[in-house]
Amino acid sequence: MKKIGMCSLRGWKGVLGRKLFVFATILFAASIVYFYIDFPLRVTNRVLNNGIGEDDFYNYEDTSQKENEKAISFNKSSNDVIVFVHIQKTAGTTFEKFLVRYQQSLPCKCQAHKKRCNCGRNASNETWLFSRYSTGWVCGLHADFTELVVNSCVQRVLDKQAGHKKRRNYFYTTFLRNPTDRFISEFRHVQRGATWISSKHVCNGKPASVNDLPTCFDPRIGWEGVSLEEFISCPYNLAFNRQTRMLSNLSLVGCYEHLKKPSYEQDKIMMESAKENLRNMAFFGIKERMDDSQFYFENTFGMKFSRKMSVWGKSKSNDTVLTDSQLAYIQNVNKLDWELYEYAVQLFDERVSHLRRKRRIRR
Ligand SMILES: *[C@@H]1O[C@H](CO)[C@@H](O)[C@H](O)[C@H]1NC(C)=O
Ligand SMILES: *[C@@H]1O[C@H](CO)[C@@H](O)[C@H](O)[C@H]1NC(C)=O
Ligand SMILES: *[C@@H]1O[C@H](CO)[C@@H](O)[C@H](O)[C@H]1NC(C)=O
Ligand SMILES: *[C@@H]1O[C@H](CO)[C@@H](O)[C@H](O)[C@H]1NC(C)=O
Ligand SMILES: *[C@@H]1O[C@H](CO)[C@@H](O)[C@H](O)[C@H]1NC(C)=O
Repeated sequence: MKKIGMCSLRGWKGVLGRKLFVFATILFAASIVYFYIDFPLRVTNRVLNNGIGEDDFYNYEDTSQKENEKAISFNKSSNDVIVFVHIQKTAGTTFEKFLVRYQQSLPCKCQAHKKRCNCGRNASNETWLFSRYSTGWVCGLHADFTELVVNSCVQRVLDKQAGHKKRRNYFYTTFLRNPTDRFISEFRHVQRGATWISSKHVCNGKPASVNDLPTCFDPRIGWEGVSLEEFISCPYNLAFNRQTRMLSNLSLVGCYEHLKKPSYEQDKIMMESAKENLRNMAFFGIKERMDDSQFYFENTFGMKFSRKMSVWGKSKSNDTVLTDSQLAYIQNVNKLDWELYEYAVQLFDERVSHLRRKRRIRR
């Protein structure tokens, strides 16, 4: 009898415990949904409301005043060079194709069946465009800000081509994209066989070693056909926060250390660096805003494209179906990119409306 009593008591406790457990689980799931799913939705709404947000990322007036002072003027016939920082899966290829093929103010000379074009100035024959389809990947495949600027690769390569050291004005440009969409697009590209294994990841003057930057896969085999689960569970996956990392000065955070030993302080430094470098760019496009990006580019550089990028740049691949928890996870591991993207869209709106105002005044 006693035994049965104990049993039923335990049983009663068990039922309560299970109910509590179920309740706690629901609460936990709800908080994940709130923070990771609802939050980006609110971000998107804010963006649609023309970037007037509550968060004080930077002082708008300060920025536009500074912009007024040093209005960008690209001089086609002098030492001005446009440099494109190509972050994977951000519509960069579309933009680069447009620069060499459909840009009429300073046309590049392209030949049939040749990927690369000659974008030399006709006076000096030196290039005015540093990009995949003009100079090629001379600083490494998808070279990042650290390789191009911090390690002076652009300067070095152009000096070598010119045959002597020379002062130039560099106009840095890039494209950004919704981080979750970009990440999924990169996953699909890797699944189809891309690895970008030949990227050098130069930092502090030397390429990253296997020790600095372990690979997620056997380089002899590659990562083709990888499952999403495997893709997102590799801690060294460079797809995580790729946009922030590729735009920041990695010398400030000990290069790739943060991948092995994540640290809040280093993330913060990297984030601030990426934002600063973005602010200093003459142009950056947003994949979700192709028409405005084209307007921003054309009016900044006084160049015109003969076609619309928004028509060209439609994504080819079809959608990957994700579970809610996968989506929440992906948003969470790209938190820095979400912060950067949100910041970038606000800055983008500022710059585009500033250019529209200027155009109205000129007319
Ligand atoms: C552009 O550069 C050329 C050559 O240095 C110079 O002669 C010309 O005045 C410049 N144009 C403008 C608008 O600054
Ligand atoms: C430079 O090239 C453009 C277009 O190819 C041409 O119209 C122009 O006459 C050239 N200028 C010089 C100085 O060769
Ligand atoms: C300009 O450079 C291209 C490619 O390097 C070369 O084919 C061409 O002959 C050069 N033109 C002049 C005038 O130097
Ligand atoms: C990058 O950071 C290093 C280390 O602080 C600094 O010396 C260098 O000037 C920075 N370079 C750029 C381009 O920001
Ligand atoms: C999506 O992918 C499947 C399988 O690869 C293909 O058969 C289908 O046509 C694609 N759909 C679209 C809309 O591209």
